[in-house]
Amino acid sequence: LKTEALEKIEVASDMKSLQDVRVSYLGKKGPITEVLRGMGKLSAEERPKVGQLANEVRDEIKAHVEAKEAKLEQEAVEKQLAEESIDVTLPGRPTQVGTSHPLTDVVEELEDIFTGLGFSVAEGPEVEVDYYNFEALNLPKDHPARDMQDSFYFTEELLLRTHTSPVQARTMEQHEGKGPVKVICPGKVFRRDDDDATHSHQFMQIEGLYVDEKVRMSDLKGVLESFAKSFFGEDRSIRLRPSFFPFTEPSVEVDVSCGICNGEGCRICKQSGWIEVLGSGMVHPRVLEMSGFDPAKYSGFAFGMGVERLAMLKYDIDDIRHFYTNDVRFLKQFTRA
Ligand code: DAH
Repeated sequence: LKTEALEKIEVASDMKSLQDVRVSYLGKKGPITEVLRGMGKLSAEERPKVGQLANEVRDEIKAHVEAKEAKLEQEAVEKQLAEESIDVTLPGRPTQVGTSHPLTDVVEELEDIFTGLGFSVAEGPEVEVDYYNFEALNLPKDHPARDMQDSFYFTEELLLRTHTSPVQARTMEQHEGKGPVKVICPGKVFRRDDDDATHSHQFMQIEGLYVDEKVRMSDLKGVLESFAKSFFGEDRSIRLRPSFFPFTEPSVEVDVSCGICNGEGCRICKQSGWIEVLGSGMVHPRVLEMSGFDPAKYSGFAFGMGVERLAMLKYDIDDIRHFYTNDVRFLKQFTRA
């Protein structure tokens, strides 16, 4: 009986079968209990011997069960430890790291160039009032040039700004008629255009404004020439063409020499050797006046340029929509080292 029980204890591989073995041998209905219960029927000499033997067998089985229990528990703990162990020397899984958007990079590069020329960075709201977007820039309510920029209106007075030029008026007002004012204003602008390869209903501009005593058109030319060389390359030059903007007089459009054909004419510059990059001019006296500057004492120049257009020219990007569709194959090409 004992050998049989010990064998079964030995092969019991989990707590459940071990408990079954214990109950079947040591339980109330087990053989040992039965022997002890039947002691009354034995003779006086047999009783102590049988009793002793039965007790010995019971104790031994019990001891084995307990030892086996301890062993199984130990094994369970070891198994759990092995399963849950962490190898801290394993290399980590690489996580995908994002990068800054190419437009952000270009804006930052332009900010670097212009802060290097003494400009600071100003900002204004994207939801603008009619006064700053038009009126303060010499575009009164009935002015036909308002149609140059089809607008998104919220109310008659409130719209999404169509250009960054309203920041000119806001900044001049803050200076309360005292120069110098020398800022660039980057930001999003919005127009009711149908999106195509060269138009987007939302895009970015950088505005520039320099107002002080005796600011001249040659200062404008020097600043923009310096910008063109820094941004596009030292071999580039600029030329000014007469143009019209309500907020500047005189007004010019600024072309940069085409870096590909070096002025000879090619597909990129449409055979002219020049590419238009921005609008500019001397701040209109009425604009100075409306924002609190005395046009008899102060003069200034302003310019405004499209950031996407600059980026497209610099990096030979053929469609403005690439900036807004977030195709990582496009974006990854502009990852900074
Ligand atoms: N605001 C003009 C536009 O969005 C660009 C511009 C032209 C800005 C001439 C200027 C400027 O400051 O002087 O088309």
